[in-house]
Amino acid sequence: REGDLDELRREALACVRCPLSATRTTVVFGVGDPAADLLFVGEGPGRDEDLAGEPFVGRSGKLLDRLMAEELGIDRRSCYIANVVKCRPPQNRDPRPDEMAACRGFLDRQIELIAPRVIVSLGNVATRALLATSEGIRRVRGRVYPYGSAQLVPTYHPAAALRYGGAGVAGQGVDLGRAD
Ligand code: URA
Repeated sequence: REGDLDELRREALACVRCPLSATRTTVVFGVGDPAADLLFVGEGPGRDEDLAGEPFVGRSGKLLDRLMAEELGIDRRSCYIANVVKCRPPQNRDPRPDEMAACRGFLDRQIELIAPRVIVSLGNVATRALLATSEGIRRVRGRVYPYGSAQLVPTYHPAAALRYGGAGVAGQGVDLGRAD
């Protein structure tokens, strides 16, 4: 399946299925172990990721790396990290429904090939896309949902913790989207 994932990556790198392809610097396909048990799904590349071609390498990524190390004792090479959209939305706006739809085949195929046991969706955009819900992360987190043969665990996006801190994410009325 590593070969299949490589082929899918090559396909993604050439993708022009949506307008984000016109403004991207790089396609941010995903990183990690193609046979990982654990898959993190974020929203989409930010500025740092667009430049580096790797997901979660900016401020959110540093926090994600730290939480993986401290809470789970793992690093990004032993899991897999991907995003709902593979190209950066300008100004880090939320990806649009048509952009997510155009890109969805890549994520679906990644999930199929990696066949993780646990999928952690980070924040509203990834959670809503994977759970096919309009509920917010605050409502759906803290529970486990079946996702094919995997278990889906929705949680806050690391950018939410950076923006609002521990009190903020537990508080009311905040937007738990993405920031760099
Ligand atoms: N935020 C995301 O959702 N994904 C990234 O890759 C980086 C920041």
